[in-house]
Amino acid sequence: MNKETNWVLEFNNINLKIGNNEILKNVSFKIEKGSNTFIMGPSGSGKTTILKIAAGLIFPTNGNIKILNKDISNIKDLYEVRKKIGFVFQYSALIDYLTVLDNILLPLKIRNKSDFKKNYKTYIEKAKEILEKLDLKGVEKYYPNSLSGGMQKRVAFARAIISNPEIIFYDEPTSGLDPVTAKSIDNIIININKNFNITNIIVSHDVNSALNVSDYIIFIYKGEIIFKGNINDLKNLLYNSSLTIPPILKDFFYSIIKT
Ligand SMILES: Nc1ncnc2c1ncn2[C@@H]1O[C@H](COP(=O)(O)OP(=O)(O)O)[C@@H](O)[C@H]1O
Ligand SMILES: [Mg+2]
Repeated sequence: MNKETNWVLEFNNINLKIGNNEILKNVSFKIEKGSNTFIMGPSGSGKTTILKIAAGLIFPTNGNIKILNKDISNIKDLYEVRKKIGFVFQYSALIDYLTVLDNILLPLKIRNKSDFKKNYKTYIEKAKEILEKLDLKGVEKYYPNSLSGGMQKRVAFARAIISNPEIIFYDEPTSGLDPVTAKSIDNIIININKNFNITNIIVSHDVNSALNVSDYIIFIYKGEIIFKGNINDLKNLLYNSSLTIPPILKDFFYSIIKT
C-alpha cells in the first residue's frame, strides 16, 4: 500500500529580489512531516532568508509557500499557522532579566494574558516537565547568564516547545559551541523530534550535526538549491567520480569524502 506523504512545508518556485540583488532564485522544496530536515550552505547563501520567508516575516517577489497545507500569502492562514510553529533563533535570544522559567512562559503570556493567568499553575508544571525532558531539571529559578551556552540553547528549545508546535525552525543551533556541547545539542534535537513528535527544520552549516541528525538535506548556494536528498544520496554523489559535482559541495563536505 502506498503511504501518502504528509508535507509540512512547501516552497514552490520562490524568488526574492532586493534591489538588484537576487537573494533566492527559483527555490522549490518539500519537507516531510516528522522529519529532521537540514537546510545547509555557506554563509550568505540564503538560509536565514528561507526561515524568514517561512515565518512570514519577508514576502517573496514571487512563488508560493504552503505550511501545514495552508498558503501563507493569506494573512488569516498565516496567523493560524504561526501558532503551530516554534522558532529557535541564533544566539538563543533569551531575556537576561527574566528567570529561566519566565523566559519559557513568555510566549504563553504574550499570546493570551487571561488564559495565562487562569492556567498559570498548569503551565509552570508543563515548563518543569519540558525542562526535565531536556536534561535541565531544577534550573527554573536561574537567570540565563549563569548557564553555559549549551544550557541556554536548551532553554531556548524549551521556550519553543511550550506552545505545542508541530514544527520547530532552528537557525544555526550548534554554531559557537564546542564539539562536545554541539553533540549534546544534536541529541536534544533528535529527542525533540521523537518525544515531542515535532518536525525539525534546521538551518546549519555544521556537517557533523547533519551526519548525526538529518533525515534529509537541502543545500543552498548563492540563493539556488544545488542538492536535495539524504546523507546516502549525498555520499553516492560525492563518491561517484563520473558525475559532475558542484565544487562547493565537495569543499563543504570534504570531511565525509573518503581519502
Ligand atoms: N534585508 C536585506 N537586504 C538586502 N540583502 C539582504 C537582506 N537580508 C539578507 N540579505 C542578503 O541575502 C543573502 C543571504 O543572506 P542570509 O539568508 O542571511 O544568508 P545565510 O543565513 O545563509 O548566511 C546575503 O547575501 C545577504 O547579504
Ligand atoms: Mg544565517
